[in-house]
Amino acid sequence: MNQHYVDVGHNGIMPQVVVLKVCHELMKNYSYLVVDPSSRQAVIVDPAWQMEKIEQALMYTQASLSGVLITHSHPDHVHLAEPIADEYDCPIWMSKEEIADSGFNARQLVGIDTTPWAVGQMLIEPILTPGHTPGCTCYLMADNLFTGDVLFAEGCGICPDVEAAHAMFASLQVLKNRLRPETRIFPGHSYGTPPGQRLAQLLKENVYLQFADKHSFAAFRLRSGQNVAKMFDFV
Ligand SMILES: [Fe+2]
Repeated sequence: MNQHYVDVGHNGIMPQVVVLKVCHELMKNYSYLVVDPSSRQAVIVDPAWQMEKIEQALMYTQASLSGVLITHSHPDHVHLAEPIADEYDCPIWMSKEEIADSGFNARQLVGIDTTPWAVGQMLIEPILTPGHTPGCTCYLMADNLFTGDVLFAEGCGICPDVEAAHAMFASLQVLKNRLRPETRIFPGHSYGTPPGQRLAQLLKENVYLQFADKHSFAAFRLRSGQNVAKMFDFV
């Protein structure tokens, strides 16, 4: 049912990534359980829709949940954040920018900046990537990047206006400059490509990574004639 990835990161830590495809009516999301093999501590990224799958993954990996990582505040990414934080008595991490913009609140909410921290021996490096929302954050754990709605295998998240599209362009340049080509990309949704593709592959195939300037990027991202229904045609 679930895919598992174990990779050696550049810092020698090998987090186990359990891919959880979760659904509710027409919504299809990916949540990810990321386990530090040395301590069996884990974090869950963008939990939504199906609590039982998350509980099963925790049992299967014999991991204890240390926290909830949120890429951004849209309902399909925070749906189970509070119930899980209550059940496992752990924090919900979200960027301060996203909290300020969205007004998201929860008893266990902890606002973060881009300072890395460790869960067990697993380093979590937040990368602020605004554009889809003002506080969108990707999380790098060894060579695994969890991108929410910033970067999909086949595209990037929608942007509400030109300013946001310019921010998205800058965010994608940050990722291109910072990440190793071997980095696996774990998005919040898929249009058909399985999660965990290497950045090197996306650099060849993802049209949104091909633009050289923010103006042409924004013109393409905001082009008219896009079928809105198809933009949410996740599988
Ligand atoms: Fe979103």
